[in-house]
Amino acid sequence: MPKHPLIAGNWKMHGLREAIPEALAMDRAARDSRASVAIFPPSTLLYALSEALQSRSEPSPVRLGGQDCHKDAQGAFTGDLSAEMLKDAGADMVILGHSERRHGHKEACESVAAKTLAALRAGLEPIICIGETLDQRQEGLTHAVLSKQLRDSLPLALEGQTFHVAYEPVWAIGTGHVPTDDQVVDAMLLIQKHLAQRFHNQVVPHTLYGGSVKPDNARHLLSLEGVDGLLVGGASLKAEDFNRIIAAAD
Ligand code: G3P
Repeated sequence: MPKHPLIAGNWKMHGLREAIPEALAMDRAARDSRASVAIFPPSTLLYALSEALQSRSEPSPVRLGGQDCHKDAQGAFTGDLSAEMLKDAGADMVILGHSERRHGHKEACESVAAKTLAALRAGLEPIICIGETLDQRQEGLTHAVLSKQLRDSLPLALEGQTFHVAYEPVWAIGTGHVPTDDQVVDAMLLIQKHLAQRFHNQVVPHTLYGGSVKPDNARHLLSLEGVDGLLVGGASLKAEDFNRIIAAAD
């Protein structure tokens, strides 16, 4: 485990203003932890959360991020948000290429790469997600799929930039099925090898695991080779759960 593992909570399409006290409770746990903590709320909550977290007597260590962005800075794109808008609302990170966007919104790797460039343009630190489906794993295609996603979703412009890659096997997301230790380590090492060959960054990217992370398996997952942090979905919505995952990093 690195000195400061990244514990990231992806709230997906969950959270009204009444969730703000949950984030404030997460802030309290983050202050006592050696982990870096980031919350990715729905965009409608970004500004309110940023205000609530930063208006405390000691500014919060909790970072905020968006869950997607458009590749352009502005334009006639009804319903979309630019990286600059996320930044303006208080984000300094963004999740890109989540499988719920790759599959649910037919987002291709090339689009993820273009959005990554947009994130860098706006000064947002991207977390780029990759992961295979169950069919692809059963057909023995895991390595080929992950390698293609890495090659085509990560633009060369990431050289010298701070960014993160999250391995989220699609079949582990929201299912309670966590891959075996060997499966996790195999994927993390593949990612790290790819990053080392392709980028010569001074800041070594965090490689995160995501998919059915819970308070009870977080410590174990963080102990696996190559796991520098966790991208948490359902268990990041309530401080009661998420704070136990943050504590697992200590
Ligand atoms: O981005 C995190 C996510 O896809 C994992 O979701 O609910 O399985 O922790 P969950």
